[in-house]
Amino acid sequence: MSFKTKDVTLSEDRPKALLLQKHSDYLASYGLNKEDYEFCMTEYLRMSGIYWSLTAMELMAQSSRMPKDDIISFIASCQDSESGGISASHGHDPHMLYTLSAVQVLAMYDKLDAIDVEGVVRYVSSLQQEDGSFFGDIWGEVDTRFSFCAVMCLSLLHRLDAIDVNKAIDFVLSCMNFDGGFGSKPGSESHAGLIYCCVGTLSICKRMDALKADELAWWLCERQLPSGGLNGRPEKLPDLCYSWWVMSSLSMLNRIDWVDKKNLEQYILACQDAETGGFSDRPGDITDPFHTLFGLAGLSLLGNTTIKRVNPTYCMPQETIDRLKLEPQILQ
Ligand code: FPP
Ligand code: ZN
Repeated sequence: MSFKTKDVTLSEDRPKALLLQKHSDYLASYGLNKEDYEFCMTEYLRMSGIYWSLTAMELMAQSSRMPKDDIISFIASCQDSESGGISASHGHDPHMLYTLSAVQVLAMYDKLDAIDVEGVVRYVSSLQQEDGSFFGDIWGEVDTRFSFCAVMCLSLLHRLDAIDVNKAIDFVLSCMNFDGGFGSKPGSESHAGLIYCCVGTLSICKRMDALKADELAWWLCERQLPSGGLNGRPEKLPDLCYSWWVMSSLSMLNRIDWVDKKNLEQYILACQDAETGGFSDRPGDITDPFHTLFGLAGLSLLGNTTIKRVNPTYCMPQETIDRLKLEPQILQ
């Protein structure tokens, strides 16, 4: 029995050039109308939305078009004074994901003093469990993405000493599968998004030696489909955000040449909307700030010099990572 590969076909009239001005206009106007349906429906992830938009703007050298003062005071007002954690928006519960996004934004603005940093450190360390894993919030969901958020967040604050780093690494390594990949918890199937989280954790903790680099890179490059796009697991459709989850992992493994870079670039460019600006998951779909960041960041990893260099571990401008004197490990 044979299986038909799930994929998309790129049409001849697809965008073939990078439309930077369109993307900057799209992100600058996103959310200006607070009554907009899509804006209202995404309130539960507002803090991450700010991180995706600001990082994309920084990579295009357009961040001055973002309302810096409003963003900083919004972040400060989303910190819970009791737990120290930060929520997605006013009136929401603090969560590891939004605490990380807030810290990333303030790190880019060089404004970490706008929040109670010790509160964040207390919050993140309070979520570490006996086995080294992390809860996402007080409700107790365990996932390797929270391990990554915790480690990234504390490293941006230069406070990794507040957790048991060796136990955090041991937990992540207990999620490694026979194929060299990682899932969300021990025994869960390999998934490119979680591979990025686990490789990223090991990169920050300088334990890349613990990876099965060739097996893992082989699994990752097999995610490329005939359209040039990448999927996140076997038998799935391509999705632009996987250009980030897969390519950033391959970059940390120093093996981005294992994919067909020209073909992937064509797929990424085809995901632009020439009318509205922004990128979508697949050609012709509706654009959003999340896929817009990963389109631009993916092109940066592929060597496009009209976009600033992105750091593959932190998904932030390399210049921010350099200013903070952080040196996440890349395999040599
Ligand atoms: C796919 O999720 C993506 C992931 C599992 C990785 C998420 C990574 C983080 C939250 C860490 C912070 C990220 C950055 C860039 C700093 P999905 O639920 O959409 O998966 P699916 O495609 O299988 O539905
Ligand atoms: Zn996606």
